Amino acid sequence: MERRIKIFDTTLRDGEQAPGCSMNLNEKIEVAKQLELLGVDIIEAGFAISSPGDFKSVEAIAKELKSCTAASLARAVEKDIDAAYNALKHAVSPRIHVFLATSPIHMQYKLKMTPEQVLEKAVFAVKYAKKFCSDIEFSAEDAMRSEPEFLAKVVEAVIEAGATTVNLPDTVGYCAPQEIFDRVTYIRNNVTNIDKADISMHCHNDLGMAVANSFAGVMAGATQVECTVNGLGERAGNAALEEIVMAIKTRRNLVNAYTNINTQQINKTSKLVYSIIGHTPALTKPIVGPNAFAHESGIHQHGVLAERSTYEIMCPEELGIPQKKLILGKHSGKHALVDRLRELGYTLTDEEFEDFYKRFKELCDRKKVVSDSDIEALVNFKERTESKYSLEFFDVHTTKSSKSTCVIRLKRDNEIFEEVSLGDGPINAAYNAIDKITGNVCDEMSSYSIQSVSDGNDALGEVTVRLRSGDTTITGKGLSTDIIESSILAYINGINKLLGF
Ligand code: KIV
Ligand code: ZN
Repeated sequence: MERRIKIFDTTLRDGEQAPGCSMNLNEKIEVAKQLELLGVDIIEAGFAISSPGDFKSVEAIAKELKSCTAASLARAVEKDIDAAYNALKHAVSPRIHVFLATSPIHMQYKLKMTPEQVLEKAVFAVKYAKKFCSDIEFSAEDAMRSEPEFLAKVVEAVIEAGATTVNLPDTVGYCAPQEIFDRVTYIRNNVTNIDKADISMHCHNDLGMAVANSFAGVMAGATQVECTVNGLGERAGNAALEEIVMAIKTRRNLVNAYTNINTQQINKTSKLVYSIIGHTPALTKPIVGPNAFAHESGIHQHGVLAERSTYEIMCPEELGIPQKKLILGKHSGKHALVDRLRELGYTLTDEEFEDFYKRFKELCDRKKVVSDSDIEALVNFKERTESKYSLEFFDVHTTKSSKSTCVIRLKRDNEIFEEVSLGDGPINAAYNAIDKITGNVCDEMSSYSIQSVSDGNDALGEVTVRLRSGDTTITGKGLSTDIIESSILAYINGINKLLGF
């Protein structure tokens, strides 16, 4: 019989803790809602004890989810488990995820504990967590570099103590698929109570094998995969959700298994997460990269036209990537827009639609033809923070031979602030003027990038800036056909986020 593989998404925990991937509360809630639409089984919303901000977001997401299980990570200690439960207690389906390392290297150098102490602590933590809720996951951190006999002993003991899922992470992305297959098989053959728990895979991508390793685990009998949207995560990231889901779907015959993911939502989910962290996929990124379904060579084009399956193993339509191109512009009515949005996977509330429509019309005044990429950029581009400052007016002067000048007018709580500043170029001048108004909120701008959303010299330009204030680094974004305006909007968006942290 076909097995159902549970998809455990850790974008908001393992993904979000990676450098350059932090999200504010509104962004996390938006991602969590989209993950629920996508059909993931479990959302790891954060690590409740790690900071008050993380606690708040686990709590808010736990309250928001309608059917999906909400999980929080916890070390194998009482205070972590207490925090995890307190953050999760309003969830329709809470899960406490306890972890403790079991490899010789981690036990000796990080934990400074003997294997016996680790075994005892793991059992204690699972029993303690079980008092709060029935759904308990235990992760044997660095499981794949652990001694198989000891790992089997820990897994058996935690299941006996009440764990309902046992996770076997390849924490450092060290293993090859055959080793993962053998390790899962070993655990299945040497843990007497293994039928009482799901076996989960959690593979990192340091050697580029996270998806292949997760797949090997599923082939060997694992029934849960932990992954992140777009493969975000520590170092080289985690197994990419969209890749492992499509591997299971496309090679269903090999794994004799399926997931509950609505693959039509994959494109939209990926775009949302890229848009929030201010990145775009690599050209050759599987499933969601710009070239994933592009055929340049004549032989391939001819083959695909004659019979798609000659060179395509998946259809873009099953990922929610529409193929029919529709030209929209100034004269397009609301119905055509709503239809197009629906085809692109977006259902907006009336209020969201009105806000989108206003921005769509503004864009039509600047650009004759509005493409799907423009529409997606407009929808994904939202102010996900309380807007403290907003742009009222700017005027820049720039020449080759002297410094640029910029006059900026910002509004905050109905009060207008105006400043003028010089700079090395128009953007620097504008940012200096904004700093004068907002009071040097930003300690450092660690990156600035500009990306054209679609083709043509009237394309929308999306600017992403990464700003740091103390220990907090955020991403600010601006979108306009005028790149000076998008640069200014990105900086203001970043300042607003820093002020709201
Ligand atoms: O990579 C890892 O081992 C983890 C655990 C905490 C599950 O992220
Ligand atoms: Zn991890």
